[in-house]
Amino acid sequence: MEIVTSIEKMTQISLKWRKEGQKIAFVPTMGYFHEGHLSLMRLARKKGDRLVVSVFVNPTQFGPQEDFEKYPRDKKRDIELAKKEGVDVLFCPSKEEMYPPEYQTYVEVTELSRPLCGESRPGHFRGVATVVLKLFNIIRPHLAVFGEKDYQQLLVIKKVVQDLNLSVEIVSHPIVREIDGLAMSSRNVYLSSEERKSALSLFKSLKLAQELVKKGERNSDKIRKIVRDFILSHPYTKIDYIELRDPKNLIEKKEISGPTLLAIAIFVGQTRLIDNIILEID
Ligand code: PAJ
Repeated sequence: MEIVTSIEKMTQISLKWRKEGQKIAFVPTMGYFHEGHLSLMRLARKKGDRLVVSVFVNPTQFGPQEDFEKYPRDKKRDIELAKKEGVDVLFCPSKEEMYPPEYQTYVEVTELSRPLCGESRPGHFRGVATVVLKLFNIIRPHLAVFGEKDYQQLLVIKKVVQDLNLSVEIVSHPIVREIDGLAMSSRNVYLSSEERKSALSLFKSLKLAQELVKKGERNSDKIRKIVRDFILSHPYTKIDYIELRDPKNLIEKKEISGPTLLAIAIFVGQTRLIDNIILEID
């Protein structure tokens, strides 16, 4: 496995592979790998001839009060894990090369970035869309894999690809969970053991909503209230949002008619966690 930090070197490698007719698969990450990241890499490995994984904690997607500085990092461990997954290039650019002092160009997906995490984290998706487009331009992948845990991010990236006519296939991977159901996240390390217990209410509340829909409940407000009360009955929890939306365009749904995205963000202590499920009527 090659570890590349220079943007120019990365593009050289990719262009050489492209000339040879090799299909390049790419998994963008912010590092501190867990089984979720590794599953994305395995899928990408299968779909391409060459696998590039980026590790870059992207400053432009963090708000001024957010955890950019203390976001967990462990380069040595990430290198070992990436080697085991058969990664060809681990691309770890510097903040300075990605965003030199004169940097001034940003990508904005106006509508899809507005609700949910976009509302709680102003500028977040502008940072995500910008860095992902930069990474696509540097790495020139044929396909890129994203996790459904960050459902809105996945839609935003698909929109960038569609609107800006990029030739990258976007492949999604289902949410990878701990044995008890908590969605894997690099931020789970922030949780104390007591908070970790309360954090499970997030996954359990998704299941609860699914049960309600199975039993015939169709009213979004009612589901929202039951989910909210359930989560808040656990210590240290605070609701950021509980939203029922159309999974294609994130437009609000008052009634569960057809597949409906239930997207939730909560705080457990200081830690912000997100999770989601597509509620289906069968
Ligand atoms: P990061 O949080 O490191 O996640 C990298 C990729 O892993 C994303 O596509 C995310 O959706 C996926 N992922 C994380 N946890 C997952 C889980 N439990 N199950 C399935 N997939 C999971 O998302 C980012 O980084 C950044 O915003 C990035 C796209 C790299 C841009 O900076």
